[in-house]
Amino acid sequence: MKGTFFRLRGKELSLILIVLVCTTIFVWTWDRTPFLATFLPPKSRFLWLSSDAFTNSVSPESQIHMNKDISTSAENKTVNYQEGQLSNILAPAGPVAETIPDKRKVSLYSVLRLYLYHGGAETTESLAEGQAKDKHVVEAEKNSSAENSTILTKTEENGKKNLGEKNSKLEKESVDRRSSADSANLSSSERIKADENSTMLEQNQACNYAKGKWVVDDSRPLYSGAHCKQWLSQMWACRLMQRTDFAYERLRWQPKDCQMEEFEGSRFLTRMQDRTLAFIGDSLGRQQFQSLMCMVTGGKERPDVEDVGKEYGLVKPRGAIRPNGWAYRFPSTNTTILYYWSACLCDLDPLNITNPATEYAMHLDRAPAFLRQYLHKFDVLVLNTGHHWNRGKLKANRWVMHVGGMPNTNRKIADIAGAKNFTIHSIVSWVNSQLPEHPRLKAFYRSISPRHFVNGDWNTGGSCDNTTPMSIGKEVLQDESSDYSAGSAVKGTGVKLLDITALSQVRDEGHISQYSITASRGVQDCLHWCLPGVPDTWNEILFAQL
Ligand SMILES: *[C@@H]1O[C@H](CO)[C@@H](O)[C@H](O)[C@H]1NC(C)=O
Ligand SMILES: *[C@@H]1O[C@H](CO)[C@@H](O)[C@H](O)[C@H]1NC(C)=O
Ligand SMILES: *[C@@H]1O[C@H](CO)[C@@H](O)[C@H](O)[C@H]1NC(C)=O
Ligand SMILES: *[C@@H]1O[C@H](CO)[C@@H](O)[C@H](O)[C@H]1NC(C)=O
Ligand SMILES: *[C@@H]1O[C@H](CO)[C@@H](O)[C@H](O)[C@H]1NC(C)=O
Ligand SMILES: *[C@@H]1O[C@H](CO)[C@@H](O)[C@H](O)[C@H]1NC(C)=O
Ligand SMILES: *[C@@H]1O[C@H](CO)[C@@H](O)[C@H](O)[C@H]1NC(C)=O
Ligand SMILES: *[C@@H]1O[C@H](CO)[C@@H](O)[C@H](O)[C@H]1NC(C)=O
Repeated sequence: MKGTFFRLRGKELSLILIVLVCTTIFVWTWDRTPFLATFLPPKSRFLWLSSDAFTNSVSPESQIHMNKDISTSAENKTVNYQEGQLSNILAPAGPVAETIPDKRKVSLYSVLRLYLYHGGAETTESLAEGQAKDKHVVEAEKNSSAENSTILTKTEENGKKNLGEKNSKLEKESVDRRSSADSANLSSSERIKADENSTMLEQNQACNYAKGKWVVDDSRPLYSGAHCKQWLSQMWACRLMQRTDFAYERLRWQPKDCQMEEFEGSRFLTRMQDRTLAFIGDSLGRQQFQSLMCMVTGGKERPDVEDVGKEYGLVKPRGAIRPNGWAYRFPSTNTTILYYWSACLCDLDPLNITNPATEYAMHLDRAPAFLRQYLHKFDVLVLNTGHHWNRGKLKANRWVMHVGGMPNTNRKIADIAGAKNFTIHSIVSWVNSQLPEHPRLKAFYRSISPRHFVNGDWNTGGSCDNTTPMSIGKEVLQDESSDYSAGSAVKGTGVKLLDITALSQVRDEGHISQYSITASRGVQDCLHWCLPGVPDTWNEILFAQL
């Protein structure tokens, strides 16, 4: 009996021993493996989340909920996060949040990603987003990426696949923004300090690049207008014209509430590794495209850059003066920059294909076929329209407004301003509806580029003779865009506004003016800009947001 008893006890003892050893090994491994540790965040992360992370952009209501959750037991904390608050917070817009099919999936993924972000494994993309941060903060972020970013990428991709919902992009942005302050290796007391002093940070995060002032800077321009012949059309290279004043080339835009990262071609390309940027719009969009090509190359000859227009069907049709666009690829980083000409940002459809003088259905509520066809290939999209919306151009182009596939009968839309506004809202809303399916896409709508015709219009002797920079003014302090249609169209969508209207408005001296080589005598171009010039700034602001 005794022997048996002791034998049993011996078994028990060894069992207990084995369990103990296993547990120790498990705990030890868990502690040592950063990957596993990411699944088991320390309490402070929750606390951090509850205190300063959301103070910037979350309604007080959610904050109260959050705090309530945290006061419950540790066990239930995570669950509450997953089930409720986080998904709400990450998808602040009510209707957007409602479209999430499986909240649990979304939240689990978000929670996991937050930890990863918190660990500092930020992608260059999110670093870019927080570019307004102090340099050392960014450094620290980089240094602290102990965890391997591959994990992040994979998680992100899986999560996004699972998501496939409207707010995936919004959500990513919110995560990026919230994690930015936190990613630096700050102790909790430092964090509280930083929170107290978060005004600067808050300002940077909420940076409105449209507010600021022009300053003279001898490091400008970013490329030579005489040498960037590979990309810059002669008709916009004022250095190759009779113009002799070049003070307009020396201005740099300085945003008010944030520092703008200095543009650098190599940095642009690195950030755009394996990505495609598409400009779609009118000739002002083409100017921005040429400007960017010159900025990226520094205006230097680049024989290695490939013409990949064919991949996008951008070939010169028989008898045409030029193709409908251009596409170039930088092989070193596999970065593609392209432009497609769509003056109305709407779909144009010939009404009678066999008739060379056919009218075109101008589908105000349908995105250009090119955009619909190639959207899946774009990572950054910059849209614009504006200067073709007048009766003369519509008539000359034989464009007939259509809505819902039928000739328009709505009086409010029939009016040119109404049609333009309707179209801008339609295209922005369509792109927004495409974001869930294209989670990597960053879409911008560029506000209208101002004209400066004085004493007449482009065809009635209007001119813009001023050559002194900043004689109208140099500062922009308004919060809202001067382009009301664009501003209201992007509101509540995932499409960002590239608001360049007011800052370009004070640059009346930067146009081609009387030096146009293509216009007939006496006709001035107070619409297009000399390059290098104002559109370079549009690209700097774009770059700051990539
Ligand atoms: C967790 O929450 C559930 C329901 O809210 C509750 O029944 C349970 O007792 C809680 N568990 C702990 C450990 O507080
Ligand atoms: C980040 O690391 C670099 C070198 O790897 C170092 O020069 C720099 O001081 C570090 N920055 C911070 C904030 O630790
Ligand atoms: C992060 O902070 C801890 C403790 O303050 C410190 O030991 C560690 O070196 C820091 N890591 C980096 C990358 O600065
Ligand atoms: C991440 O891990 C991969 C493979 O495990 C490795 O090739 C890469 O260098 C690592 N990157 C960093 C930043 O540690
Ligand atoms: C906050 O920043 C201001 C100026 O940037 C500085 O004077 C002040 O000491 C800072 N406060 C804290 C608590 O760090
Ligand atoms: C270039 O980037 C595209 C995505 O934009 C990708 O599909 C393609 O495989 C890349 N090519 C190479 C050679 O890496
Ligand atoms: C289309 O145009 C051709 C050539 O002008 C003409 O013969 C034909 O009748 C037109 N078709 C329609 C449906 O208007
Ligand atoms: C612009 O269009 C939108 C959407 O169609 C409409 O809600 C808004 O009232 C319009 N604004 C103006 C000024 O016409």
